[in-house]
Amino acid sequence: MARALNRAAFTIHVMTALFLVVVKPAANGADSCRSMDLGYQLFNGQRALVAHLRDDNRMLPDIAARCINCHDHADNAASFAPPLTSRYLLSDTRRRGGPPSRYNLSSFCRVLNVGVDPTGIVLKKAMPQYALSDTECAALWSFVTAP
Ligand code: HEC
Repeated sequence: MARALNRAAFTIHVMTALFLVVVKPAANGADSCRSMDLGYQLFNGQRALVAHLRDDNRMLPDIAARCINCHDHADNAASFAPPLTSRYLLSDTRRRGGPPSRYNLSSFCRVLNVGVDPTGIVLKKAMPQYALSDTECAALWSFVTAP
């Protein structure tokens, strides 16, 4: 009986040690991987973005330019601006009274850089215009369209 209890206690210790050694670092690794992601950092403001409003050449302060201020990365979110999700961006949707359209990498970068959507409609001035490198734009696109 005592032997069986000892064996059970030993097994619990081994399982706990295994959890601490293997599972915990793996979970932390996943978190740090996500926060290392360039698209995630640009979206949330951990990396600065260069932006201004249309017809206004003053640069916005970093804190005002981050996407998360106005957009959410979840469908059905009650944010100020449209949700930035694969469902919203990749499905045919009527935007601003225009014909149905969807985004791809090129039209996404265009709307960010010059504020014109896939059907040629100019966005409201509230959406900043960004000076993004191809790498930054592609990273944002991958982040917002990730399943
Ligand atoms: C200060 C608020 C604000 C910030 C910051 C902002 N946006 Fe926007 N964004 C808007 C608004 C408002 C609209 C809708 C404009 C319209 O319908 O005319 C919009 C529209 C868009 C659209 C077009 C969606 C559609 O319906 O066609 C995309 C894509 C987009 N934003 C991406 C971004 C990304 C990526 C960032 C960060 C790099 C960003 N926005 C930062 C306010 C903002």
